[in-house]
Amino acid sequence: MGSHYQFAPLSIAFTLCVCLARGWSNDLTHGFKELPFNTSFYHIQKPYDLPVEQRYSFINGVHKLWVFSTDKPLSRNSPTRPRSEIIISGYTYYSGVWQFEAYGYVPCGTSGVSIMQVFGATLPHNTSFILGVNNGSLSYFNTSVIYPKVYDKWFRLNVIHEVETRKLRIYINGISKYETLDLGGTFHYFKCGVYAQKNASFYMESRWKGIRVFKRSD
Ligand SMILES: *[C@@H]1O[C@H](CO)[C@@H](O)[C@H](O)[C@H]1NC(C)=O
Ligand SMILES: *[C@@H]1O[C@H](CO)[C@@H](O)[C@H](O)[C@H]1NC(C)=O
Ligand SMILES: *[C@@H]1O[C@H](CO)[C@@H](O)[C@H](O)[C@H]1NC(C)=O
Ligand SMILES: *[C@@H]1O[C@H](CO)[C@@H](O)[C@H](O)[C@H]1NC(C)=O
Ligand SMILES: *[C@@H]1O[C@H](CO)[C@@H](O)[C@H](O)[C@H]1NC(C)=O
Repeated sequence: MGSHYQFAPLSIAFTLCVCLARGWSNDLTHGFKELPFNTSFYHIQKPYDLPVEQRYSFINGVHKLWVFSTDKPLSRNSPTRPRSEIIISGYTYYSGVWQFEAYGYVPCGTSGVSIMQVFGATLPHNTSFILGVNNGSLSYFNTSVIYPKVYDKWFRLNVIHEVETRKLRIYINGISKYETLDLGGTFHYFKCGVYAQKNASFYMESRWKGIRVFKRSD
């Protein structure tokens, strides 16, 4: 007890320093211009043999996407794993600084899955960034943990991609959590939802609200 009280101010100061050092900001979108986001800019990729309503709903502003590991891929001859994903193909980009912001939610049990992508990379890669869910944590692809204990709560995700420097910055709840380089490629776009990876759980689901796309104004 005593030591808890003794160290509390220190830990608050430490947290503050870490936050400042990591570029914590309420306003990650400062200097960016928000672009219109509606159904003209995205569509849903889902198992080819099912109507979209069986793997996607949009109720009270919440996009819910789900898929089973036994589902079919997005097209008849595709070798890819099952998915239900929002593909923001209306904002395919080639240069500049782009940002995706949304609130995400992953129910307990969903695992071995991509829930967000910065698509586009140099072969043999297809995608420059996967925000995965593995072992109950958000992860960089299926490797480094970005944010532990993610289940059953809303989190705010900001992904900033600077094409010229290839830098990708990942923020959870406004706090910088991961920085890396993209994997090349000439074009990119954002996706979110569920896309089965190796070791996928039988049922996969993620929910998204407040999806916004920004481009840094020059
Ligand atoms: C989406 O927004 C654009 C730009 O504001 C507008 O031109 C278009 O009509 C909108 N589409 C729908 C389906 O609302
Ligand atoms: C990339 O996409 C191609 C064509 O859809 C596919 O054949 C290949 O397996 C994919 N590669 C990876 C690493 O996912
Ligand atoms: C998940 O756990 C397995 C087994 O402990 C481990 O091999 C894997 O690296 C972990 N994945 C992540 C993203 O931590
Ligand atoms: C992680 O991803 C790599 C590349 O797709 C794959 O080879 C590997 O088997 C995956 N590991 C797990 C535990 O899913
Ligand atoms: C596969 O996923 C399960 C949970 O669904 C996890 O317990 C296990 O560690 C994972 N295995 C690997 C090699 O990541």
